[in-house]
Amino acid sequence: MFQTEQQIIEANIKTFCTANGIPLAALEWKPIPFSGEWGFSTSFFGTAAAEARLGKKVVVAQRAQEIAEQVKRQIDVPGLSHIEAVKGYLNLYFDTREYTRRVVDTVLEQKNCFGSGPATGQRVMIEFSQPNTHKAFHVGHLRGTILGDAICRILEFAGNDVVRANYPGDMGMHVIKWLWGYLKFHNGEEPATDITRWMGEVYAEAAHRIEENPDLEAELRSLYARWDQRDPEIVALWERTREWSLEGFRQMYAALDVHFDVYYFNSQEEKPGKEMVEELVRRGIATDERAQGGAVIVKIDEVLGLDKEQFRTAVVLRSDGTALYATEDLALALHKFRDYPDLAKSVYVVDVRQSLHFTQVFKILEIAGHAQAQKCSHVSYELVTLPGNVVISSREGTVVLLEDLLREATTRARAEAHKKNPSLTEAQLENVAKAVGLGALKYPILARENTKMVTFDWQTALDFNGQAAPYIQYAHVRCNSILRKAGGLPDVGRSTFDYELNPAEIQLIDMISRFPGEVQRAAAEYKPLAIASIAYDIAKTFAGFYDACPVMQAEPQVRAARLRLVAATRQTLANSLALLGITAPEVM
Ligand code: ARG
Repeated sequence: MFQTEQQIIEANIKTFCTANGIPLAALEWKPIPFSGEWGFSTSFFGTAAAEARLGKKVVVAQRAQEIAEQVKRQIDVPGLSHIEAVKGYLNLYFDTREYTRRVVDTVLEQKNCFGSGPATGQRVMIEFSQPNTHKAFHVGHLRGTILGDAICRILEFAGNDVVRANYPGDMGMHVIKWLWGYLKFHNGEEPATDITRWMGEVYAEAAHRIEENPDLEAELRSLYARWDQRDPEIVALWERTREWSLEGFRQMYAALDVHFDVYYFNSQEEKPGKEMVEELVRRGIATDERAQGGAVIVKIDEVLGLDKEQFRTAVVLRSDGTALYATEDLALALHKFRDYPDLAKSVYVVDVRQSLHFTQVFKILEIAGHAQAQKCSHVSYELVTLPGNVVISSREGTVVLLEDLLREATTRARAEAHKKNPSLTEAQLENVAKAVGLGALKYPILARENTKMVTFDWQTALDFNGQAAPYIQYAHVRCNSILRKAGGLPDVGRSTFDYELNPAEIQLIDMISRFPGEVQRAAAEYKPLAIASIAYDIAKTFAGFYDACPVMQAEPQVRAARLRLVAATRQTLANSLALLGITAPEVM
């Protein structure tokens, strides 16, 4: 916010030090923790230490303070209220009104770009969602999808070039099971409306039959062999049924407002994966135990010469020579870099149960000499539980379908919204129900550390008064209605805050001014929680401001300034919700 001033100050300091033969060390600027006024500081310990190293007889702490005091007298910049030299530090405080004006004007100038970072020139791939075809898209995939989408939005806003990748599991034992069940019990049938549900049901039935009668496993194995030899009949059936699943997923993504730039598929990676395994065997990295009835494995710790168990042993090919999940991931990692050679990072958003898997895959790639492995990382997340302690995992029987959850979210949101504002028209209500319903689904997932379990419950998710999406959306609506009543923003071009600012007002400004920093933090740590929190903090601080500070009733000068502050709040709320993939409604 005060870059220009900072540059002038740095120049002042440099000139002074040069003139006095002081070996100035690089200046590090830090914001001073907010306590009613804003400021930033730097210290001169490095400089004093440099003098000591040059042979000057100084007590570093004392000398640092001396320099700070001398430097203080050299600085003359408008926009600052006061400067202190304390214990070797130079603290510079902004004029509160000037700071406030700059924050508000910056937001209103930058609009939906407020908070965004300068282009980093880095391309980052985020792989997320990765549902399995021939199965239900159940809520287990929900967290990964919502989290991955928010991470993409945040990284993009922070200045990166983001590639959104999906990797549906379109081949593997589950698909063979489905095909087997279909051929045996549903041959010729086609899904009608609820595609994903039907796909899930066919799968669950097949899994169930096999569990009941393990002798049937032999049939599965022979079907897998036919697939592996690319029997045209099986391939055709697989292609047709796979498309059903993918169509179902596309519908889900549309409902969730999520999109992808590129799709990878397990099936494409089988062959190149097997070739990579063969090469690993040839090079002595993998051990082929198939002659002894075993599989192909990589004893990673042994290969690395580690005494302690760390990476353990990874199975990279089945004993019958068919590809495994790991086989395919070896190939996929390189495939991504072939498609996008300039990727600075290749990120996998996948649940925590697969941590060892990814550690092993990346390590094997590194051992094999693929430098890209260094750029690969796994962003893991914990599972979601529903009330009644239903753990949402792929275990059959306990799945709750995403469609059901979405439907319920919308229905409940509609009822809440109607209760809150009975005057909404049918079309408005429809809109609000959609925005609030989706927000209620997304926010609880994003407002949680990735590594902590999410327990989903409707009451908290739809709380208009607590830390929840509707509360934040409602704050946005309130800002909107104030501005509407005022007939829009006063046409002043820039803000003037030349009155005694209320503490609640100052706090609101402080929250708004933190937003760009939170965007950077959220991007660096793959942590939408930072955005979920600041959005809530802004909404809450706005409520405090609204209680304490009259807007419409205030005298014209104050009213004009506060209306601009309300507009800046509305913009920042909208920007933060957008990063979470949540709509900010106009009315509610
Ligand atoms: N489809 C897998 C599953 O549902 C997740 C895939 C994760 N990505 C990967 N490159 N292995 O468990």
